[in-house]
Amino acid sequence: MSRSWLVCLLAIMACLLASTHGLPLQENPLQEDEKSGGRIVGGYATDIAQVPYQISLRYKGITTPQNAYRHRCGGSIIAEDKILTAAHCIIGTVPSQYKVVAGTNYQTGSDGVITNVKEIIMHEEYFSEFAYNNDIAILVVDPPLPLNNFTIQTIKMATEQPLEGAVSKISGWGTTSPGGTSSNQLLAVDVPIVSNDVCDKDYENFGDETYRITASMLCAGKRGVGGADACQGDSGGPLVVRDVLQGVVSWGNSCALATHPGVYANVAYLRSWIDAKLAQL
Ligand code: ARG
Repeated sequence: MSRSWLVCLLAIMACLLASTHGLPLQENPLQEDEKSGGRIVGGYATDIAQVPYQISLRYKGITTPQNAYRHRCGGSIIAEDKILTAAHCIIGTVPSQYKVVAGTNYQTGSDGVITNVKEIIMHEEYFSEFAYNNDIAILVVDPPLPLNNFTIQTIKMATEQPLEGAVSKISGWGTTSPGGTSSNQLLAVDVPIVSNDVCDKDYENFGDETYRITASMLCAGKRGVGGADACQGDSGGPLVVRDVLQGVVSWGNSCALATHPGVYANVAYLRSWIDAKLAQL
């Protein structure tokens, strides 16, 4: 009797161990990428302490409440209770469908700090006149994030446009190739800012006539080279130049093409809208 109890107990402990240790040991997409040399967007593994303003926005469908919250987009911490993300990430959804996870290196699992979305403020002119125009939104989170000067920090928002050619850092858990799988580990990549004029010409023959590079947008990429970019799942996340948030991952033709830079919501341009909303809250 006591022996069979012991066997049961051991079995339960083994299960518990496997389940607690199982998550971080999930297949690491990085290794695959490293082997093929195709780390998407030509990125490198980074640590949340290097980009402590980055959050993972987790989502679940209203009609599938039994499902887990899954990574949908990135975002940036602009105040202890405010996140900047892309309008296209949250359009047509409600706050209860989200969790915000800060201070984590992984898009799965539940390490880091988890909070709720209390309110979603989307740009009223999103997609007006031009595709992805004004692709910006603010999330109010509750409870506020415990800023710790280490893995969870705010980022300063730009008031001026970045210089053409300035090196920017983008980060996220998006796919490592167009239509590919996403990275469980947080990745980052450095790409130069491209002027809106040049970028608009690059996109001249893309999509219909509504696909233009407007003043509410910003471009970055290695023109003529490619191989470094944001991709699906990075949306809403940060583009940072010298510790200032200049862009929010928005759209692009495929990912990392030499012919088409990535397109971002332009934080300096959208600053008046952002500040007005923050003042109202
Ligand atoms: N729309 C994508 C998303 O929802 C991001 C696309 C960025 N594409 C690019 N080539 N930079 O995650």
